Amino acid sequence: MADLDDLREGSNFEIGMAAGQQEYHVKGGANLPWGMKDRLSRIFNPKTGRTVMLAFDHGFIMGPTSGLERIDLSIIPLIEYADCLMCTRGILQSVIPPNTNKPICLRSDAGTTILTELNDNVLIDIEDVIRMNVSAMAVMLSIGDPVFEAKTVANLYKAVDMGSRYNIPVMGVTAVGKQMTRDARYFGLASRICAENGANIVKTYYCEGFEKVAAACPVPVVIAGGKKLPEKEALELCYKAINDGASGVDMGRNVFQSTSPAAMIQAVHAVVHNNLTPEQAYELFKEAGS
Ligand code: R5P
Repeated sequence: MADLDDLREGSNFEIGMAAGQQEYHVKGGANLPWGMKDRLSRIFNPKTGRTVMLAFDHGFIMGPTSGLERIDLSIIPLIEYADCLMCTRGILQSVIPPNTNKPICLRSDAGTTILTELNDNVLIDIEDVIRMNVSAMAVMLSIGDPVFEAKTVANLYKAVDMGSRYNIPVMGVTAVGKQMTRDARYFGLASRICAENGANIVKTYYCEGFEKVAAACPVPVVIAGGKKLPEKEALELCYKAINDGASGVDMGRNVFQSTSPAAMIQAVHAVVHNNLTPEQAYELFKEAGS
């Protein structure tokens, strides 16, 4: 039993003072339950409302691609600069030290590889997601794909159903088939469909007219980096995306294939969280890499 000695009666009730209003910093998240908000707050910095996710899940379809041959050597030194790690459960459990204490956005679907038809995916078991203390599940949607569209939308739907049971947010990842036009109309459609089906975060690509994609999406949009660009161009891409309404990046190759990955992720972080211009961020990249 607690010590009852000197038990003091409360006297500071501030009668007449309204209860403190709480605001929530993640777009579209104000009505979510506490557990969802807590997990989203681990991913999106409460001060800026933005995130730098480091994506290194590429191996689930393409094996040891350039920059990811030895994740223990290439990725672990970058973890301290990332707000969130996006990877597969195999890499998480075999390579990522649990004491890094970074939120995990888990690649939660898989099924085919670059050697066959992509996108014929099934979902991970929610119990494994819970066991790994994951902060969000990433599920890919192949909008416009005549064969796999329905299956991937159903995957997202199921992930949202499972995630809602345990307050685990879902990120919808918009895949782009070879036959799709990479424009604001397509990405706007695909992103909105993710959100309409319950995704709490949408990952898509930057394009001309991206401000319409971000504006019409009721939840945060983060951009993938895509193929490796010269560092200055990749920083321009981040800057334009943030300026046009992205809530962050989920970037892989433009970080881990950089000539100086640690300098690059710091420069990306400065654009996303400190609004550095691409020129300022490129200077930072050169300084940090020297
Ligand atoms: C997407 O489905 C992949 O799994 C990557 O996570 C994504 O493309 C981001 O990586 P990158 O910036 O290299 O495009």
